[in-house]
Amino acid sequence: MRANEKWRAEGVAAAAAQFKEEVTILDAAALKRSPWAQLRGLDDLIDGLGRASAAAQGLKAAVTTLSHLRAGDQRLYVYTTVEPDGSRAPIGLLKVGPKTLYHWDATGNHRCLPNQLCVLDFYVAERAQRQGVGARLFAAFLAAESAAAAAVAYDRPSPKLLAFLRKHYGLARYTPQRNNYVIYEEFFGGAKCGAKNGDALARRPLTSRGVH
Ligand code: ACO
Repeated sequence: MRANEKWRAEGVAAAAAQFKEEVTILDAAALKRSPWAQLRGLDDLIDGLGRASAAAQGLKAAVTTLSHLRAGDQRLYVYTTVEPDGSRAPIGLLKVGPKTLYHWDATGNHRCLPNQLCVLDFYVAERAQRQGVGARLFAAFLAAESAAAAAVAYDRPSPKLLAFLRKHYGLARYTPQRNNYVIYEEFFGGAKCGAKNGDALARRPLTSRGVH
Protein backbone atom coordinates (compact mmCIF):
# COMPACT_ATOMS: atom_id res chain seq x y z
CA MET A 1 0.00 0.00 0.00
CA ARG A 2 1.37 3.42 -0.98
CA ALA A 3 2.04 5.94 1.77
CA ASN A 4 -0.94 8.19 0.95
CA GLU A 5 -3.31 5.19 0.71
CA LYS A 6 -2.07 3.99 4.10
CA TRP A 7 -2.58 7.49 5.53
CA ARG A 8 -6.18 7.54 4.20
CA ALA A 9 -6.95 4.03 5.44
CA GLU A 10 -5.71 5.01 8.90
CA GLY A 11 -7.95 8.08 8.80
CA VAL A 12 -11.00 5.98 7.90
CA ALA A 13 -10.21 3.48 10.68
CA ALA A 14 -9.84 6.32 13.20
CA ALA A 15 -13.17 7.80 12.08
CA ALA A 16 -14.90 4.39 12.26
CA ALA A 17 -13.69 3.96 15.85
CA GLN A 18 -15.74 7.02 16.85
CA PHE A 19 -19.05 5.33 15.94
CA LYS A 20 -19.55 3.92 19.41
CA GLU A 21 -23.32 3.34 19.29
CA GLU A 22 -25.25 0.89 17.12
CA VAL A 23 -26.96 3.89 15.48
CA THR A 24 -25.36 7.35 15.31
CA ILE A 25 -27.15 10.46 14.03
CA LEU A 26 -25.12 13.00 12.07
CA ASP A 27 -26.36 16.38 10.87
CA ALA A 28 -24.82 19.75 10.05
CA ALA A 29 -24.74 20.84 13.70
CA ALA A 30 -23.18 17.61 14.94
CA LEU A 31 -20.51 17.75 12.22
CA LYS A 32 -19.27 21.07 13.65
CA ARG A 33 -18.74 19.49 17.06
CA SER A 34 -16.23 17.10 18.53
CA PRO A 35 -15.36 14.38 17.68
CA TRP A 36 -16.76 14.63 14.15
CA ALA A 37 -15.28 18.04 13.25
CA GLN A 38 -11.73 16.84 13.85
CA LEU A 39 -11.83 13.53 11.97
CA ARG A 40 -9.86 13.68 8.72
CA GLY A 41 -11.14 10.24 7.64
CA LEU A 42 -14.86 10.95 8.06
CA ASP A 43 -15.39 12.23 4.49
CA ASP A 44 -13.77 9.11 3.03
CA LEU A 45 -15.82 6.86 5.30
CA ILE A 46 -19.25 8.44 4.67
CA ASP A 47 -18.61 9.13 0.99
CA GLY A 48 -17.55 5.50 0.59
CA LEU A 49 -20.84 4.32 2.09
CA GLY A 50 -22.69 6.79 -0.15
CA ARG A 51 -20.93 5.44 -3.24
CA ALA A 52 -21.71 1.86 -2.23
CA SER A 53 -25.37 2.81 -1.84
CA ALA A 54 -25.42 4.45 -5.28
CA ALA A 55 -23.78 1.38 -6.85
CA ALA A 56 -26.33 -0.92 -5.18
CA GLN A 57 -29.15 1.19 -6.66
CA GLY A 58 -27.57 1.59 -10.09
CA LEU A 59 -27.22 5.35 -9.66
CA LYS A 60 -24.52 7.31 -11.48
CA ALA A 61 -23.85 9.68 -8.58
CA ALA A 62 -24.01 9.28 -4.82
CA VAL A 63 -27.07 10.70 -3.05
CA THR A 64 -25.16 10.89 0.23
CA THR A 65 -21.93 12.83 0.72
CA LEU A 66 -20.57 14.41 3.85
CA SER A 67 -20.15 17.82 2.20
CA HIS A 68 -23.85 17.82 1.30
CA LEU A 69 -24.76 16.86 4.86
CA ARG A 70 -22.62 19.70 6.25
CA ALA A 71 -24.48 22.23 4.10
CA GLY A 72 -28.08 21.11 4.50
CA ASP A 73 -30.95 20.24 6.82
CA GLN A 74 -30.77 16.46 6.43
CA ARG A 75 -29.98 13.81 9.02
CA LEU A 76 -27.83 10.75 8.42
CA TYR A 77 -28.41 7.66 10.55
CA VAL A 78 -25.35 5.40 10.51
CA TYR A 79 -25.52 1.75 11.59
CA THR A 80 -22.31 0.35 13.06
CA THR A 81 -21.39 -3.23 13.81
CA VAL A 82 -18.48 -4.61 15.83
CA GLU A 83 -16.15 -6.89 13.87
CA PRO A 84 -14.68 -10.10 15.38
CA ASP A 85 -11.38 -8.26 15.98
CA GLY A 86 -13.22 -5.61 18.04
CA SER A 87 -12.98 -2.84 15.43
CA ARG A 88 -16.10 -0.83 14.58
CA ALA A 89 -17.50 -0.94 11.05
CA PRO A 90 -20.20 1.50 9.86
CA ILE A 91 -22.15 -0.70 7.41
CA GLY A 92 -25.48 1.04 6.95
CA LEU A 93 -26.87 4.48 6.25
CA LEU A 94 -30.29 6.08 6.21
CA LYS A 95 -30.55 9.69 5.06
CA VAL A 96 -33.72 11.66 5.73
CA GLY A 97 -34.82 15.25 5.37
CA PRO A 98 -37.68 17.62 4.61
CA LYS A 99 -38.95 18.32 1.10
CA THR A 100 -41.94 20.14 -0.30
CA LEU A 101 -43.91 17.60 -2.31
CA TYR A 102 -47.05 17.67 -4.43
CA HIS A 103 -49.15 14.54 -4.35
CA TRP A 104 -51.82 13.59 -6.86
CA ASP A 105 -54.36 10.93 -5.97
CA ALA A 106 -55.91 8.50 -8.46
CA THR A 107 -58.76 10.93 -9.23
CA GLY A 108 -56.44 13.83 -10.06
CA ASN A 109 -56.85 15.82 -6.84
CA HIS A 110 -53.63 17.11 -5.41
CA ARG A 111 -52.16 18.23 -2.10
CA CYS A 112 -49.13 20.28 -1.24
CA LEU A 113 -47.07 18.65 1.49
CA PRO A 114 -44.68 21.29 2.81
CA ASN A 115 -41.77 20.23 4.99
CA GLN A 116 -42.59 16.58 4.37
CA LEU A 117 -40.27 14.09 6.09
CA CYS A 118 -38.68 11.96 3.36
CA VAL A 119 -36.38 8.94 3.17
CA LEU A 120 -33.74 9.94 0.64
CA ASP A 121 -31.13 7.17 0.82
CA PHE A 122 -31.08 3.80 2.59
CA TYR A 123 -28.35 1.18 2.34
CA VAL A 124 -26.98 -1.81 4.22
CA ALA A 125 -23.71 -3.43 3.07
CA GLU A 126 -24.35 -6.47 0.91
CA ARG A 127 -22.72 -8.85 3.39
CA ALA A 128 -25.19 -7.79 6.10
CA GLN A 129 -28.44 -7.54 4.10
CA ARG A 130 -31.49 -9.62 5.04
CA GLN A 131 -30.29 -10.06 8.62
CA GLY A 132 -32.45 -7.40 10.27
CA VAL A 133 -29.90 -4.57 10.15
CA GLY A 134 -32.11 -2.39 7.96
CA ALA A 135 -35.06 -2.96 10.27
CA ARG A 136 -33.05 -1.88 13.33
CA LEU A 137 -31.70 1.19 11.56
CA PHE A 138 -35.13 2.19 10.28
CA ALA A 139 -36.75 1.67 13.69
CA ALA A 140 -34.08 3.88 15.30
CA PHE A 141 -34.90 6.62 12.79
CA LEU A 142 -38.65 6.41 13.44
CA ALA A 143 -38.10 6.50 17.22
CA ALA A 144 -35.68 9.44 17.05
CA GLU A 145 -38.09 11.49 14.90
CA SER A 146 -41.32 10.30 16.57
CA ALA A 147 -42.54 9.30 13.12
CA ALA A 148 -44.53 6.40 11.69
CA ALA A 149 -43.41 4.59 8.52
CA ALA A 150 -46.70 5.52 6.85
CA ALA A 151 -46.15 9.23 7.61
CA VAL A 152 -42.90 9.30 5.61
CA ALA A 153 -42.42 9.83 1.86
CA TYR A 154 -39.92 7.65 -0.01
CA ASP A 155 -37.78 9.05 -2.81
CA ARG A 156 -37.73 6.65 -5.77
CA PRO A 157 -37.81 3.49 -3.62
CA SER A 158 -36.01 0.46 -5.02
CA PRO A 159 -37.74 -2.94 -5.27
CA LYS A 160 -35.81 -3.99 -2.14
CA LEU A 161 -37.10 -0.99 -0.17
CA LEU A 162 -40.67 -1.60 -1.37
CA ALA A 163 -40.35 -5.23 -0.20
CA PHE A 164 -38.82 -4.05 3.09
CA LEU A 165 -41.71 -1.67 3.81
CA ARG A 166 -44.29 -4.27 2.90
CA LYS A 167 -42.66 -6.86 5.16
CA HIS A 168 -41.90 -4.74 8.24
CA TYR A 169 -44.71 -2.15 8.11
CA GLY A 170 -47.42 -3.74 5.95
CA LEU A 171 -47.22 -0.82 3.49
CA ALA A 172 -48.15 -1.71 -0.06
CA ARG A 173 -50.77 0.57 -1.64
CA TYR A 174 -49.86 3.90 -3.24
CA THR A 175 -50.62 5.98 -6.30
CA PRO A 176 -47.52 6.31 -8.55
CA GLN A 177 -46.33 9.91 -8.86
CA ARG A 178 -44.47 11.74 -11.61
CA ASN A 179 -41.85 12.85 -9.09
CA ASN A 180 -41.29 9.17 -8.18
CA TYR A 181 -41.87 9.75 -4.47
CA VAL A 182 -44.00 7.07 -2.85
CA ILE A 183 -46.59 8.06 -0.26
CA TYR A 184 -48.64 5.17 1.01
CA GLU A 185 -52.40 5.32 1.29
CA GLU A 186 -52.14 4.99 5.07
CA PHE A 187 -50.57 8.46 5.08
CA PHE A 188 -54.00 9.88 4.36
CA GLY A 189 -55.65 7.87 7.12
CA GLY A 190 -57.77 5.96 4.66
CA ALA A 191 -59.59 9.14 3.61
CA LYS A 192 -59.88 9.98 -0.05
CA CYS A 193 -57.46 12.67 -1.17
CA GLY A 194 -59.50 15.77 -1.84
CA ALA A 195 -57.87 18.61 0.02
CA LYS A 196 -55.57 20.87 -1.95
CA ASN A 197 -53.56 22.02 1.05
CA GLY A 198 -51.22 19.96 3.23
CA ASP A 199 -52.90 18.25 6.17
CA ALA A 200 -51.85 18.31 9.80
CA LEU A 201 -49.77 15.16 9.51
CA ALA A 202 -47.74 16.51 6.66
CA ARG A 203 -47.02 19.70 8.60
CA ARG A 204 -45.69 17.82 11.61
CA PRO A 205 -42.49 19.60 12.72
CA LEU A 206 -39.31 17.62 12.34
CA THR A 207 -37.45 16.74 15.49
CA SER A 208 -33.73 16.48 15.02
CA ARG A 209 -32.01 14.82 17.92
CA GLY A 210 -28.35 15.19 18.73
CA VAL A 211 -25.70 12.63 18.18
CA HIS A 212 -26.01 9.57 20.37
N1 ACO B 1 -34.69 -8.80 -2.59
C1 ACO B 1 -35.97 -8.56 -2.18
N2 ACO B 1 -36.27 -8.02 -0.97
C2 ACO B 1 -35.25 -7.70 -0.17
C3 ACO B 1 -33.90 -7.89 -0.54
C4 ACO B 1 -33.65 -8.49 -1.82
N3 ACO B 1 -32.40 -8.76 -2.25
N4 ACO B 1 -33.11 -7.46 0.46
C5 ACO B 1 -33.93 -7.01 1.44
N5 ACO B 1 -35.22 -7.15 1.06
C6 ACO B 1 -36.42 -6.80 1.85
C7 ACO B 1 -37.26 -8.07 2.05
O1 ACO B 1 -38.57 -7.71 2.41
C8 ACO B 1 -36.55 -8.70 3.21
O2 ACO B 1 -37.32 -9.68 3.88
P1 ACO B 1 -37.06 -11.25 3.45
O3 ACO B 1 -35.60 -11.51 3.57
O4 ACO B 1 -37.90 -12.02 4.45
O5 ACO B 1 -37.56 -11.39 2.04
C9 ACO B 1 -36.33 -7.51 4.09
O6 ACO B 1 -36.04 -6.41 3.19
C10 ACO B 1 -35.16 -7.73 5.03
O7 ACO B 1 -35.21 -6.78 6.06
P2 ACO B 1 -33.85 -6.33 6.76
O8 ACO B 1 -32.91 -7.50 6.88
O9 ACO B 1 -34.19 -5.61 8.00
O10 ACO B 1 -33.31 -5.29 5.69
P3 ACO B 1 -31.82 -5.11 5.11
O11 ACO B 1 -30.82 -5.11 6.21
O12 ACO B 1 -31.59 -6.05 3.98
O13 ACO B 1 -31.91 -3.61 4.54
C11 ACO B 1 -32.23 -2.43 2.46
C12 ACO B 1 -32.89 -3.28 3.56
C13 ACO B 1 -31.64 -1.17 3.08
C14 ACO B 1 -33.28 -2.06 1.43
C15 ACO B 1 -31.10 -3.27 1.83
O14 ACO B 1 -31.67 -4.42 1.23
C16 ACO B 1 -30.27 -2.56 0.80
O15 ACO B 1 -29.33 -1.84 1.15
N6 ACO B 1 -30.58 -2.72 -0.50
C17 ACO B 1 -29.76 -2.15 -1.57
C18 ACO B 1 -29.92 -0.63 -1.67
C19 ACO B 1 -31.37 -0.22 -1.80
O16 ACO B 1 -32.11 -0.75 -2.62
N7 ACO B 1 -31.74 0.79 -0.98
C20 ACO B 1 -33.02 1.46 -1.05
C21 ACO B 1 -32.91 2.53 -2.10
S1 ACO B 1 -34.34 3.57 -2.29
C22 ACO B 1 -34.15 4.82 -1.14
O17 ACO B 1 -33.18 4.86 -0.47
C23 ACO B 1 -35.22 5.88 -0.95
